[in-house]
Amino acid sequence: MDVTVIGCGYVGLVTGTCLASIGHTVRGVEKDVKKLRTLSDGHCPIFEPGLQELMQEHYAAGQLQFTENVRSAVRDAEVVFLAVGTPPKPDGTVDMSYLEAAGKEVCDALAENGDDYMVTIVIKSTVPAGTNRKLYKFLKEQTKAHVQVVSNPEFLREGSAVQDFLSPDRIVIGGESPEAFRIMRRLYDPIVKREEAFMTMNWESAELTKYAANAMLAARISFMNEMTVLCEHYGADIEEIRKGIGSDFRIGPAFLRAGCGYGGSCFPKDVAALEHISKAANYESLFVNAIQTVNKNQKRRFADKIIEKLGRPIQGATIAVWGLAFKADTDDIRESAAIDVIRHLIDKGAHVRAHDFKAMENMKAIFKEEVEWCHDPVSAAAGADAVALITDWPQYTTLPFRKIAATMNTPLIFDGRNCLHRDIMRETGFQYYPMGRPCIENSLRLKHKV
Ligand SMILES: NC(=O)c1ccc[n+]([C@@H]2O[C@H](COP(=O)([O-])OP(=O)(O)OC[C@H]3O[C@@H](n4cnc5c(N)ncnc54)[C@H](O)[C@@H]3O)[C@@H](O)[C@H]2O)c1
Repeated sequence: MDVTVIGCGYVGLVTGTCLASIGHTVRGVEKDVKKLRTLSDGHCPIFEPGLQELMQEHYAAGQLQFTENVRSAVRDAEVVFLAVGTPPKPDGTVDMSYLEAAGKEVCDALAENGDDYMVTIVIKSTVPAGTNRKLYKFLKEQTKAHVQVVSNPEFLREGSAVQDFLSPDRIVIGGESPEAFRIMRRLYDPIVKREEAFMTMNWESAELTKYAANAMLAARISFMNEMTVLCEHYGADIEEIRKGIGSDFRIGPAFLRAGCGYGGSCFPKDVAALEHISKAANYESLFVNAIQTVNKNQKRRFADKIIEKLGRPIQGATIAVWGLAFKADTDDIRESAAIDVIRHLIDKGAHVRAHDFKAMENMKAIFKEEVEWCHDPVSAAAGADAVALITDWPQYTTLPFRKIAATMNTPLIFDGRNCLHRDIMRETGFQYYPMGRPCIENSLRLKHKV
């Protein structure tokens, strides 16, 4: 089929590339000049495992093209995806300006087409309930073309986005037209492995399914994070509790890992949006509020633990931060816990040295000269008073810890993701503070007393 994807960010580029890989002809529209140049040069502007190779293969074959011109991209399209950002405004409500602008551009492009032209517009962006219905009404009023609108929220995870897109648990399609459902079923045919996994519902159910899914996952994390407070107080181990409850089939094992708070481009903004969607329905959502409060507190609790256990004043201390991305296998730093933790440490007078395997350039745009940027984790830790591990890159778990301990001012690690091995920490002489797990507290051996 002939497909246009408007917005070539994490979701749009993965959608376009994967649809090209299953045989569709795809045109990606991107407004960001720098990103478009990178794409047109055959390079991938984001780090996402497997994406660059797949994109290059189908770009070279002509199956995937990029342009900034909505008009020409929409002219022959059977299906047009809107995959632009819906970021949070400062008050947590959804900024719909990108989607509205993209919808308007598509509408203007369609004005040139007559009533013999049929197109299905798909909102892939995460949008509040009522958005698809509004877009449908708007397009019906403004164009003669035979337009259908469907909601098709995306559930991919950054870091495994290609795999998630090509082997989805389910595909959710919201709409009112059986004809549009059939077109979407045909579009996705090669990746629909079980008929039940292709779900059709009304627009509002599909829109709210996306927010409900993210709020549920964030709630599991916040619940476990809240449990870490009790674990630390009573001497329990959150990892044992995770196994103890995750093996219950009613609960299941996913999204039960405790840490120093969730981040990313989706959970924080979608949970905040759900709070506002509830308010718009004159309902104060206590539960959704609590998910966010626990998350905010957990990031602060991690930073405060560093300050409390440092064994010297934070003012003038050097803290090495390992990991800046909101999770491993991505360069995305949006709402990363690292931002809040670093900000708090700097505000308290610490000198922060930072390292990440992919996200350093993105983080430099936020902290610029305020942070010392290090090319590898070992040199970041050398001479430092503590390491704060914030992203669970697996590479951090296999570092030469004995050597690192010997070069640090204090061999002290705060493991915000519970990903280091306790025995290795003990054997290599570290004082070790995970989240909600028993710590290793030797007497601190300061090399240079304050
Ligand atoms: N990132 C994720 O993991 C994820 C997962 C599921 C759903 N979502 C949702 O998908 C949507 C997109 O998220 P993202 O992370 O891909 O955002 P993004 O910011 O990475 O990408 C959006 C892209 O759209 C481009 N754009 C904006 N307006 C445009 C226009 N009028 N024409 C052409 N291009 C335009 C921007 O330049 C940008 O490259 C959001 O609603 C998000 O909530 C994201």
